[in-house]
Amino acid sequence: MILFKKANSLHQWVDAQQRKGQKVGFVPTMGALHLGHISLIESSRKDNDITISSIFVNPTQFNDPKDFEKYPVTIEKDILQLEQAGCDVLFLPSVEEIYPNGTTSKQHYDLGEMETLLEGKFRPGHYQGVCQVVHRLLEIVHPDNLYLGQKDYQQCMVISRLVELMGINDKTNINICPTLRETDGLAMSSRNMRLSEAERVKAVLIFQSLSYIKDNLVAGETDTIKNKAIAMLSDEGFRVDYIEIADAKTLEPLSNWDGKKKLVALAAAFLNEVRLIDNLLLN
Ligand code: PAF
Repeated sequence: MILFKKANSLHQWVDAQQRKGQKVGFVPTMGALHLGHISLIESSRKDNDITISSIFVNPTQFNDPKDFEKYPVTIEKDILQLEQAGCDVLFLPSVEEIYPNGTTSKQHYDLGEMETLLEGKFRPGHYQGVCQVVHRLLEIVHPDNLYLGQKDYQQCMVISRLVELMGINDKTNINICPTLRETDGLAMSSRNMRLSEAERVKAVLIFQSLSYIKDNLVAGETDTIKNKAIAMLSDEGFRVDYIEIADAKTLEPLSNWDGKKKLVALAAAFLNEVRLIDNLLLN
């Protein structure tokens, strides 16, 4: 695996490969890698000649500074995992390399409703930060294929919008890969590392509350089932930011379902200090 720390060197290297006709897949990460990330690397390896991954804990997307400070960093283990997975290139930039003019962005990304719904509402500024870093990474790597995990459902939609805003949607294809789960159903996440043993046991309730919605939803009003799912978490001591049943395309919350529209159920809840998110496509 080749390691790049400098944006310019990586940019020039990728350019040279693409001029030789090599297809490039890109898996951006914030490290603390788990099998979910590795499955993205595997998807990229199947579709491309070269797979590039990046590890950069992006300060601008953390609306809570404590969350940034506590974000797990496991760089040596990450490098080993990427090598074993057959990743060709790792980009490991410094903050100065990503933000040569400082982290305060002058650019505002027009994300429409995504900015105020769900994660947008509970993590103000988060998606502007995600766009800021992904914009920069895409300018450096300009991949043919970008790989994202469905676990961050709304982020996938935001990045699709960003790619449109950047005018590169005909050049960079977005591949959304299924969420990987532990054997009990808990969605794999870097944040799971921060759970105590007792919290880890409880954490599966997020998946179970979403599964409850999936298994019991019928056409008509959706609030009763949604409130039951929220109670499944709050009764066990979770602080629920939201559980929402929403249009799978626009993420607009629905309180009445016609039985046909494609839906997604999404959840975000704190177990003590750790905030977990998950989602399930319902139909
Ligand atoms: O999903 C993540 O790990 C991050 O939000 C991303 C896309 C790497 C941007 O920092």
